Amino acid sequence: MRFLVVGGDARTHAIAATLRRSEAEVFVVSSNTNPGLERLAKASARLDPTDAPKVAEFALSQRVEAAIIGPEAPLAAGVADALRAVKIPTVGPGQAAAQIESSKWFCRELLRKHGVGGQPKFTVPASVEEVDRAIADFDGAPFVVKPSGLTAGKGVWVQGSDFGEAKEGAVYAKSLLLQGGAVLLEEKLEGEEFSLMAFVTDSGVYPMPAVQDFKRALEGNQGGNTGGMGSYSQRDHLLPFLSPADRDRALATIEKTAAALRAEGLSYRGILYGGFMLTAQGPLLIEYNARFGDPEGINVLTLYEEGDFAELLFGVATGRVDPNLVRFRRRATVVKYVVPPGYGDRPQAGGILELDPMAIETDGAHVFYGNVQEVGPAAVKLSHSRGVAIAGEASAIHEASARVEAALKSIKGNYYVRHDIGTKEDLARRTEHMRAILSPGAKPSPIPLSVAAPAAAPSSAASADELIG
Ligand code: AMP
Ligand code: GLY
Repeated sequence: MRFLVVGGDARTHAIAATLRRSEAEVFVVSSNTNPGLERLAKASARLDPTDAPKVAEFALSQRVEAAIIGPEAPLAAGVADALRAVKIPTVGPGQAAAQIESSKWFCRELLRKHGVGGQPKFTVPASVEEVDRAIADFDGAPFVVKPSGLTAGKGVWVQGSDFGEAKEGAVYAKSLLLQGGAVLLEEKLEGEEFSLMAFVTDSGVYPMPAVQDFKRALEGNQGGNTGGMGSYSQRDHLLPFLSPADRDRALATIEKTAAALRAEGLSYRGILYGGFMLTAQGPLLIEYNARFGDPEGINVLTLYEEGDFAELLFGVATGRVDPNLVRFRRRATVVKYVVPPGYGDRPQAGGILELDPMAIETDGAHVFYGNVQEVGPAAVKLSHSRGVAIAGEASAIHEASARVEAALKSIKGNYYVRHDIGTKEDLARRTEHMRAILSPGAKPSPIPLSVAAPAAAPSSAASADELIG
C-alpha cells in the first residue's frame, strides 16, 4: 500500500518505520529533512505540512492510497479534510473534530454538554476583569492557567510549579487574554499522569497500552513543561500505579467522548489520546490530543509487530477496523529524548551529535530522528527542538531504561537527556506518591466530577460555540 505520512518529527518517523515493517511504501511531507524519514521514504516533499492544498496535491501526484498525519498543527489546519476531499482515506480527524485538541475550551464544553464525567472544575473568564473573580471561586485551592489553543505543551502554568501566589497566575491569565487568546482556569489535580491512546473510528474505540510521559524538562520533574522528555510503558499495558479498573474508567471516558463527537455530527477517524491524572477520585481528564503522543506514540509503535499496521491504519481511515490487527506485544518500553542543552527555556541549537544508528540497533535499541539535520554519515546537528528519541524494550521497565542508557553511552556530543526516566527509583517514587494520595489517612482536596459552567464563550472560540451550540 502507498501511504503518505505528514510530519517530520520522531513520532512520525516511528509511524513510518512501523508502516515499512508491514511492507507499505512510504511518502513523506515535512518542512524539515528528517534523516530517518528520508532513508525509508519512496519519495518526500519539503512543504509546509499545514498547507492543505499543497499536501493534497503531493498526495495525488504520488498516487497514495491512504494517509496519516503525525503532529497536531496539520490537523488543526484542515489537512485531513483536504486529503479526504480528494478521496484519500486519512488517519486523523478533520479540522472541526481536531478542535478536541486545538481548543481546550471546545473540549471542556463538549464533555460538559454531553455529561462526560471525570473532569476537574474549570472556568473560562471572558475578560481581564473576570479573572480575579474566577480565581476567587477556587477558594484558595491551587489552580492551573491554560491558554485554550495549541502551545506544544509549553503554555500551561501550574500553581506550585510554574507560579507561586494566586496573583502571579492572575497576571499570566490576564496577559494571555490581552494577547487575544481564550484562557481556561482549572482546579489543580494531584496525582500521577498517564496517557491512554486509542484508535477511534466508525466501528469502535480500540485502546493501546497505557504510557507515562515525563513532561518536565529536568530530572526529578524540575523545570518547565515541555512536549515530553521521554516515556515508559509496562509489560501488562498498565503502569506501576495504574490498576485495570482505573484504566477501564479512563477508557470509558474516551468512549463517551467518541460518542459525544458522533452526537455532534463530527466524524472521527484517527487517534484519540487522553491525558489523564490518576487522583484519589480516579482518573480525571487533563486534555485530549487528536494524534499519537510524542513520545508516547513511539512506545506503543515499538510494540506493534504482529499483524499488518498499514491494514490497521487503512481500517481506521475507512471506518472499519479488524480488532485482530490491534495487537501490541507484552513488553516494557522506555523512550528518552536527546535534546539540546537548555531545552525547555533556552535551547542551544547547532550542537553536533555523533551517533551510529546501526550500532544502536545492534545494542537492542531503536533511534527515531526529530528535527535534526544530517551533517555526516553518523552525525546530526541539533536544532532548538527535541533531537533524537532512543527507544528500548525489555521485560521490565528498568531493564528497558538500562538498554536506552547503554545506547546513550555510544552517542557523543553536548546534549541533555533525562536519565531518571524508567529507573527503579523513579518508579518507586511514583508508586509511593500514588499510594500516599490513595491512603485513607490522606485528605486530598475534593475534586467535583461535575464542572462549573464557563462565564461566557470567549470570542476566539466562536467556532466551538457554533458546533456545540
Ligand atoms: P496540557 O497542555 O493540558 O497537557 O497541560 C500540560 C501539563 O500541565 C500536563 O501534562 C500537566 O502536567 C499539567 N496540567 C494541566 N492541567 C492540569 C490540572 N488541571 N492539574 C494539574 N496539572 C495540570
Ligand atoms: N507528549 C505529549 C504530547 O504528545 O502532547
